Amino acid sequence: MTGELTGWQRKRVEAQWWRAVLRQQARGVWTLRSIKSRGARPVVFGKPVIDASDLEVGDDFKVWSGPRVTMISGWGRMRFGDRCFVNVGSTIISVEEIVVGDDVAFANDVYVMDSDSHGVEGRPHKQAPVRIGDGCWIGARAMILPGVTLGKRVLVAAGAVVTRDVPDDCLVAGNPARVVRELSYPAGCRRAWHDESCPCPRVAAVEDTA
Ligand SMILES: CC(C)(COP(=O)(O)OP(=O)(O)OC[C@H]1O[C@@H](n2cnc3c(N)ncnc32)[C@H](O)[C@@H]1OP(=O)(O)O)[C@@H](O)C(=O)NCCC(=O)NCCS
Repeated sequence: MTGELTGWQRKRVEAQWWRAVLRQQARGVWTLRSIKSRGARPVVFGKPVIDASDLEVGDDFKVWSGPRVTMISGWGRMRFGDRCFVNVGSTIISVEEIVVGDDVAFANDVYVMDSDSHGVEGRPHKQAPVRIGDGCWIGARAMILPGVTLGKRVLVAAGAVVTRDVPDDCLVAGNPARVVRELSYPAGCRRAWHDESCPCPRVAAVEDTA
């Protein structure tokens, strides 16, 4: 069999693709049916545990779950902007406040928490809001600890443990995470994962002709 699809084969693949998309959209609406508020076109693949009492998500919120279950939970305030994506196995737990901007991607097995749960040497445990700016890309198995604020378009490398605030447009890596370098993007770019699928060239073109 050659790599070329016949017309019918292409139609069948397209039909399968649309079936999968519609199933994930239907599951998105069903899975998020009891959260405080959700935007348009949610997408859910697999069976994440979404059990958060004060959760609001924007438009095009996308969650994937798989053999490692994704969990979004807690009684704290939790907000996600538009076009956020949470990949397989990630855990995001809020007991106070976690605020996520627009266009933020959490890769596989990311851990975000706003409380240490237990104190050390009799001191009270640390609990403080976590803020993740627009366009951040959190790499696989990274952790964001309580009290951390990430600026806009921060790229957190895989496996990093972020213990301190990070300014806009930086790559951080390691444990504890340190700034590796500043990142540069074209005008109007919204996302740290800036590649050929990024909508920013169109945004920049609109700005140029304005
Ligand atoms: C950060 C990343 C995207 C690479 O970005 P990059 O701009 O190509 O960075 P470079 O490879 O040039 O690395 C820059 C420096 O950071 C270091 N670095 C990169 N990733 C690192 C990591 N995960 N942990 C520790 N250091 C890391 C490199 O060793 C290099 O250090 P040096 O300057 O001393 O040599 C990549 O390393 C990464 O972490 N990818 C994970 C992506 C992911 O999770 N995808 C899941 C699907 S959404």
